[in-house]
Amino acid sequence: MKKTYLFTPGPTMVPPEVALAEAQPMIHHRTPEFSKIFVEVTEGLKYLFQTKTCNVYTLASSGTGGMEACVVNILSKGDKALVIRGGKFGERWAEICEVFGVKVIPVDVEYGKAVEPELITPLLRQHRDVKAVFTTQSETSTGVICDISAIARIVKEESAALMIVDAISSICVHPLLMDDWGIDLAVTGSQKGFLLPPGLAFVCVNQNAMKAAEKSDLPKYYWSFKKMQKNLKDATTPFTPAVSLIRGLKVAIDMIKEEGIENVWQRHARLAHATREAVKALGLELFAGEYSSNVLTAVRSPNGLDTSAFLKKLRDKYGVSLAGGQDELKGKIFRIGHMGYVNDFDVITAISSVEKGLSECDYPVEIGKGVARAQEILLGEEEKVAVNTL
Ligand SMILES: Cc1ncc(COP(=O)(O)O)c(C=O)c1O
Repeated sequence: MKKTYLFTPGPTMVPPEVALAEAQPMIHHRTPEFSKIFVEVTEGLKYLFQTKTCNVYTLASSGTGGMEACVVNILSKGDKALVIRGGKFGERWAEICEVFGVKVIPVDVEYGKAVEPELITPLLRQHRDVKAVFTTQSETSTGVICDISAIARIVKEESAALMIVDAISSICVHPLLMDDWGIDLAVTGSQKGFLLPPGLAFVCVNQNAMKAAEKSDLPKYYWSFKKMQKNLKDATTPFTPAVSLIRGLKVAIDMIKEEGIENVWQRHARLAHATREAVKALGLELFAGEYSSNVLTAVRSPNGLDTSAFLKKLRDKYGVSLAGGQDELKGKIFRIGHMGYVNDFDVITAISSVEKGLSECDYPVEIGKGVARAQEILLGEEEKVAVNTL
């Protein structure tokens, strides 16, 4: 018998309540029944983005579709954008901009490190005509968390540029306070902290971004915010929505609300802390060190370990999926996801599987040492891990 355990940084495990909601008989989307659900989930999404003033659009796409929607709705050909790149997903912002003829001013950050927010001040002073600053809250390819509130403050103080955040893996894990931090546009995806399968992107848009959308001349049809806004007023979407996923989303949001978003952040902080400490107890090194996100733990592959063989063994022999590094990080790191539908025993299972996998790949580890450290932390009820509000 082989059970499966999904500890990848997206897609993530889906609670049975959500899966059951998705399996309900299909309903038509131009009906009061669908509109009621849609209105409720849209309100719920505002809670997750911590906004009372923005609109949230639900797109039938993966996260990247939401990223493209952000670019094509607020910018025009030849506009300048500052893009913070410290991994695959920051680089993706730049790639999308370039495809649409937006001039990119890159801020390149070493993989495994977070951008120093002050670095962007001189660039904003030098390029007064920058229209948008693109950031990534949790860079899933490197496991780094970045200080979005500090960057947003600088952007507002130094420029008239819009502040845009890829929060695809970080919503429901790290706080992202749209209104309080002055974020103009943020995007996320369903397969990360949302307790849902892949297939939905959510874009949170404030009035500044909406004004920019009035002027933007980049080509768009399916991704038009204006169409989405017009339809949102009628409690619907411009095109056929992913009805089943939206039904699942309703249940997922109810579960998150019941737990309370602050407690959800706290749970992730605690589980991430236990994972990091367990990894260190095994003598392994955190790839992102002090910048480690609560979404996932990126571990530097130790010398002598064949990372692909290790990950394959865990997946094929034990049904445990961890993720490797992407592109130039392939073979150099492995990543343990701990977001969404996760609890103490998921961390224990993930760490014990790392121990087992390393040992079976002839890498010397003291079996049980990581698990013991994780248990120690998770049992220490009094040890409140401060929510990392970066
Ligand atoms: C931070 C971040 N940005 C963008 C993406 C791309 O999202 P998708 O694969 O859903 O298109 C991901 C997904 O891995 C991500 O984690």
